[in-house]
Parts: sequence; structure tokens; C-alpha cells
Amino acid sequence: MKVLVIVAHPDLESSVINRAWIEELRGHADVTVHDLYTNYPDEQIDVEREQRLCEQHDRIVMQFPFYWYSSPPLLKKWQDKVLTYGWAYGSGGDKLHHKELMLAVSTGGVEEKYRAGGTNQFTTSELLRPFQATSNLIGMTYLPAYLFYGTFEASAQDVRLSAEQYAKHILTPVV
Ligand SMILES: Cc1cc2nc3c(=O)[nH]c(=O)nc-3n(C[C@H](O)[C@H](O)[C@H](O)COP(=O)(O)O)c2cc1C
Repeated sequence: MKVLVIVAHPDLESSVINRAWIEELRGHADVTVHDLYTNYPDEQIDVEREQRLCEQHDRIVMQFPFYWYSSPPLLKKWQDKVLTYGWAYGSGGDKLHHKELMLAVSTGGVEEKYRAGGTNQFTTSELLRPFQATSNLIGMTYLPAYLFYGTFEASAQDVRLSAEQYAKHILTPVV
């Protein structure tokens, strides 16, 4: 199984968890890490290149820090530009059919805040529904997300353990 990890973090230099996740993936032959903000500093996405990359992989992981209950904007732009009619949906738009989509998301808020009655009122699964709906429309299989809550409170060991588990998680086939 070939895995494409599309990373959308506008400030990886200051990142704790997303950077640790990426570093853990280095050296895995079946994983391609594709960092959008580094590849497109002018935010001009090469649609053909992105579509070829997706076609060459079986599982697509969208990795990002939670920004205002969603992804940083370049990943939204990626969806707007790359998921075209006739390629991702509509007549002949079957290029992503039966591929898998997984989100890998870090949050500042701790898990207890992400529930009914908590500070954020909604679960991350609920807040990430637009990704699930998109996955459904483009014929992908939506897998459970890999989440890291409470980055600000996390210890170095929490980060290291999450990174180790991340590599296993995204490389494990669904049975
Ligand atoms: C513009 C912005 C918006 C954010 N919005 C949220 C949010 O909606 N929910 C949340 O839990 N954390 C939010 N955060 C905190 C980030 O999710 C957190 O810093 C990030 O996941 C840490 O990952 P990193 O160490 O890889 O940067 C936000 C941070 C920024 C800069």
C-alpha cells in the first residue's frame, strides 16, 4: 500500500507535533510526504502534479493542525483546485474511487473540550464532517482520523509516542 501524506502547516519551523510526525515518516519507503506550504510558497498549486501524485497512491492522509475548527487555508485551496469535475467527481470523475482518505489532525484544545457541553461543544468527528462529505462525494473510503489533542500541555514523551504510533497507524491496512 502506497501512502501519500499531504501536509498543510503554514509554520512548520515552530511546529511541535506535526513536525515530529513528519520526521517519524522519513525512511518509510511506501510513504510520500508532500508538504504543501513548502512546495507552493506562492500558493499556486500545480493541479496536474497533484492529481498524478494522488493517482500513484492508495491511501491519502491529510495532515494539519486544527485552525478555527478546520484546516489551514492552503488545504482548502488544494481541494478547490485539485478535485476537478471529470477527475474527482461527475462524468468520468472516478480517479479517487476506492482509495482511502485519512485525516491526521493536531489540536490546541484538550479532548475534554471536544464534546457536547464542553468548551467547543462538538466532537472533532462532527467538526471534520466537510472532509467526510467530500470523501463520500469523490468515492473514497473515509477512515478514522489520527488525532493528537492538547498540544500545548503535551510532554516530549507524549509527542514521541504519538509520532511512533502515527507511522504504524497510517501504514496499517484496514481489515
Ligand atoms: C490560527 C490558529 C487557529 C487555531 N484554531 C484552533 C482550533 O480551532 N482548535 C484548537 O484546538 N486549536 C487551535 N489552534 C491551535 C493549533 O491547533 C495547535 O497550535 C496545533 O495543532 C499544534 O500543532 P503544531 O505543534 O504542529 O504546530 C489554532 C492555532 C492557530 C495558529
